Amino acid sequence: MIGIGSDHGGYALKQEVIAYLKEKGLEFKDFGCYDEKSCDYPEYAHAVAHAVADGECEKGILICGTGIGISISANKVKGIRCALCHDVFSAKATREHNDANILAMGGRVVGPGLALMIVDTFLNTPFSNEERHIRRINQIEE
Ligand code: RB5
Repeated sequence: MIGIGSDHGGYALKQEVIAYLKEKGLEFKDFGCYDEKSCDYPEYAHAVAHAVADGECEKGILICGTGIGISISANKVKGIRCALCHDVFSAKATREHNDANILAMGGRVVGPGLALMIVDTFLNTPFSNEERHIRRINQIEE
């Protein structure tokens, strides 16, 4: 299960990502927001982050205008490694090196074509399981 959330600044891109997840037959839960009315990104960041931290969702996708506020908020939740990615290289690297469990993007930064490539890479790249990366992730948690 993939948890997905956005504020108003990320709503339009979230709809594109949802259409993509449906097309791929991937299960997801939309934690809001549900329209483009102005709202507060921490609410949606925390909802998705807790769902991932508690095991209800394996991974999450969060989108606000820049991706910055929503990623900062998600990273306050213990066990969350939320990576703000606006390129495919970073999306691949953060899965391999950081075992990132939430992807954040800015709906006002990337277009849907690139965003969907980033989502695809994030969802399909496994963690490397290399000792040095495990050690560093453990240091984050300590
Ligand atoms: C909302 O206007 C905007 O501040 C928000 O979407 C996000 O970019 C914050 O980091």
